[in-house]
Amino acid sequence: MATRAHFSSRIGFILAAAGSAVGLGNIWGFPTQAASNGGAVFLIVYLLMVFALAYPLLVAELTIGRYGNADPITSLRKVWPQQRALMGFVGLAGMIAVSLILSFYAIVAGWLLGYLVAPVLDLLGLTAQAQWLEEFGVERNLILMLVFMWLTVMVVRSGVTDGIEKWSTRLMPVLLLLFVVMVIYILTQDGAWEGLRVYLVPDASHLSPKLIVSAMGQAFFSLSLGVCTMMVYGSYLDKSANLPKTAAQVALLDTGVAFLAGMLILPAMFVAQNHGVVIYDDTGALLASDTLVFSVLPSMFETMGGVGILVSTLFFILMVIAALTSSISMLEVPVSCVIEELNHTRHWAVWWIGGVISVISTVIVFNFESLFGFVITMTTAYAQPIIGMIFAILVGWIWHRDKVLNEIKAGYPELEASLFWRIWPWYVRIVCPVLMLLVFFLQ
Ligand code: PHE
Repeated sequence: MATRAHFSSRIGFILAAAGSAVGLGNIWGFPTQAASNGGAVFLIVYLLMVFALAYPLLVAELTIGRYGNADPITSLRKVWPQQRALMGFVGLAGMIAVSLILSFYAIVAGWLLGYLVAPVLDLLGLTAQAQWLEEFGVERNLILMLVFMWLTVMVVRSGVTDGIEKWSTRLMPVLLLLFVVMVIYILTQDGAWEGLRVYLVPDASHLSPKLIVSAMGQAFFSLSLGVCTMMVYGSYLDKSANLPKTAAQVALLDTGVAFLAGMLILPAMFVAQNHGVVIYDDTGALLASDTLVFSVLPSMFETMGGVGILVSTLFFILMVIAALTSSISMLEVPVSCVIEELNHTRHWAVWWIGGVISVISTVIVFNFESLFGFVITMTTAYAQPIIGMIFAILVGWIWHRDKVLNEIKAGYPELEASLFWRIWPWYVRIVCPVLMLLVFFLQ
């Protein structure tokens, strides 16, 4: 096999992996979950889940990938060579799950594109077109999804360093900067502090098994775990990288952005309320999920007058960037498998797989009511935790401990003497699977 591409710098890898992790899950999922699950209580359980469960698994997935130095199917087979067929099946399951995630993600990201362009069209007097972009409809969903898929394909087509790394390192700093600017702006508005209070003062009455399960799912989704994404990125990482440290940086960046998103969205809801926008439903619960980003925020932007268009544009640019740096990491999983397992060119693989996933998205668009929520639940509530657990079992029980040690040690020479090595192997072996099973049976 020809030598594989690798990330050209450590920071390039961190920004790409954080780019994968930071996405709609952080900016849309996390704040809405926090808003409807008692604010700070959700935040605390979420933080526990990230560091007690997701971080150790992130290290596990990255380690398998870097050891394999190949696409996820081959990497998994290198971990358990006696079980080629089974490992092929696990890799395939991850590949299918991540493709399905991309198929609904692209629909939502398409809406974001619509909301990005609509205010501009409105300004130009193209009111009907603007309305079309913002109103739910099969044609709109389809066209915008295709545009977003096309963007994803264009980046992945250029490969690891010229596509994924280049765009992630360009876009992630812009995203972080936009975020900080927006948080500062929103906190100067009337009503913002009330939102902050809801976000940061815990209300323990919300603590429930359901909340814990949601927090786990959110942590898995947010760190892109259980679907071979981090494995394939890990396989493009050079041996001198310190995996536990790099994983910690990625997890911190991801959690930091989720936290910041809460500082933006929850105050924004209360600012919107101050402008007369309804943010509580009839039962007194905060409006959640799609209504939040796609109705509360746009109506708030509208009440802001001229500056509203600017703020809205910034916000949706931020969302689209976050979605794109995630979607490229999803597409890379099946693409790397097709390139390396079936010996196709990147160009061929990207167009074919992008095409197939667009077809799946199209089916969802035409059967939105029955399929959209179903695909989301199947992939994020089942596939991600289950496959994630399989990875933990592989690393904890099947993989020879010395091999794991040597792999991590390559970039972390003092590993054996570290606290990390005293805890992590047992942790992935016992604690992660048990915790996941517990949470699973709580649902
Ligand atoms: N982590 C991404 C987000 O928070 C979603 C994602 C899931 C990306 C699975 C890759 C794989 O939006």
